[in-house]
Amino acid sequence: MTKLGEMLKETTAFLKEKGVGEVDFGLILGSGLGELADEVEDAIAIPFSEVPHFAVSTVVGHAGKLVYGTLSGKKVLAMQGRFHYYEGHSMQKVTYPVRLMAAMGAHSMVVTNAAGGVNETFTPGNLMLITDHINFTGDNPLIGENDEAMGPRFPDMSHAYTPAYFEIAKKVAKEQNVPLQEGVYMGYSGPTYETPAEIRMSRVMGADAVGMSTVSEVIVAAHSGLKVLGISCITNLAAGMQSSLNHAEVVETTERVKAQFKELIKATLAE
Ligand code: HPA
Repeated sequence: MTKLGEMLKETTAFLKEKGVGEVDFGLILGSGLGELADEVEDAIAIPFSEVPHFAVSTVVGHAGKLVYGTLSGKKVLAMQGRFHYYEGHSMQKVTYPVRLMAAMGAHSMVVTNAAGGVNETFTPGNLMLITDHINFTGDNPLIGENDEAMGPRFPDMSHAYTPAYFEIAKKVAKEQNVPLQEGVYMGYSGPTYETPAEIRMSRVMGADAVGMSTVSEVIVAAHSGLKVLGISCITNLAAGMQSSLNHAEVVETTERVKAQFKELIKATLAE
């Protein structure tokens, strides 16, 4: 067995020991969006620091717990918080939780984030269905020897975000009267916010939103054969589109829309 395979064996054994059973959906809850994990029923919560082979999250506003249980009738394994590349973790460390979801038997992953709006028709507080991404991090979690047991050397990214899930999310948003934008998420490494020139470039390249997460996780999900639903919370307009940017605004916006966000995800999971 490969090193990765052995690590996953240890982590899955640890989770099973803690009472974690079957998993349908893996959830990654981004900045300010972690409260959804508090609604998981019959929850088993395990701090990241106790999970074998997990990195230690350092970002303020990320609770850093793995939460297992039932949400909308589905068995979920939720990451309340995530690991970021800009924290200094390797892409393999950042995406290890996605490997774990697949190893626990999940068929799908719901990935969420806070993002800056690049599309001029977006307003802070909008939710955006991610239909595709641009990996602009300058790295890729699959660089290195390929573990054939995990997935192919050259994974197809044509449908990394699952089209069938777009329809469900859009239908649910309509029913809930939640304006759901859609578009392309461009992933930067961070931790700096982008410059206005970078945002102009991003727009020309086809981005609707920018952020510092998600793309590496979705690459590993594609490699692992997981279906993906991605939702961004547009917390601010990107650099150059408003006077300045700060993390406090990102947190304030997620606070404002988190109820909408939670309802959208829960109802989409149910469907
Ligand atoms: N840029 C990058 N990441 C972000 C932003 C942004 O404008 N807003 C929230 N996360």
